[in-house]
Amino acid sequence: MERVRPGSAGELRIAPSVLSADFGSLANAVQAVDGETDWLHVDVMDGHFVPNLTIGPPVVKSLRPYSQKFFDCHLMMTEPGRYLDAFAKAGADGCTVHVEIGGTRELLLQCRELGMRVGLAANPDTPFSAVEPFLEEIDLLLLMTVFPGFGGQSFIGDVMSKVTEAREAVTRRGLNVDIEVDGGIDTTTAPIAANHGANVFVAGNAIFGQSDPLRAAADLRRAIAK
Ligand code: DX5
Ligand code: ZN
Repeated sequence: MERVRPGSAGELRIAPSVLSADFGSLANAVQAVDGETDWLHVDVMDGHFVPNLTIGPPVVKSLRPYSQKFFDCHLMMTEPGRYLDAFAKAGADGCTVHVEIGGTRELLLQCRELGMRVGLAANPDTPFSAVEPFLEEIDLLLLMTVFPGFGGQSFIGDVMSKVTEAREAVTRRGLNVDIEVDGGIDTTTAPIAANHGANVFVAGNAIFGQSDPLRAAADLRRAIAK
């Protein structure tokens, strides 16, 4: 099965987060929203970096035959370096590591050498200055709009000034870096984030938490396209 390419940096994209999907029927859940989504956001939690524990490379591998989407793996882990190779082999297209854990330059390089798209994430209270030195080395900057760990939390609007800062820096330097927001994204908050410069929108509860996830994804797409 030929996979969908990530697309050019800066295009508006909807990335449903599997965290809010039914893990007992993951392939069905993912296929149900295929027509109205662009990427698939896979939330990996290790029980250390965040208190929650979710999934890893075996699930990525199992899901891979059921979707051609770009698998955008968000690694909420203290030691992602131990698993990047396994994620690449399992079929991850991109991996995003958190800047808070340190060792960032080596991790980004490792991810690049494995042929994946390279992402760097920052928690809501991590300043832009922490990620700025790495802008030239990444394809995606994930600015968390909730504290990571759980789906269904409320959007933290204060992060928007950081989104603006990031978009201005990326534009000023002429870089092709996607700016992704994750946490509390819905039809009300996604347009706010879009207006501040975000172009990739992760949504868990607003898509998989709804009675008609496909329609919910379409509604989200319409909301950011305005
Ligand atoms: C939070 C995860 C998110 C989460 C978003 O730690 O990184 O991707 O699934 O869920 P919602 O959209 O429900 O806030
Ligand atoms: Zn996430």
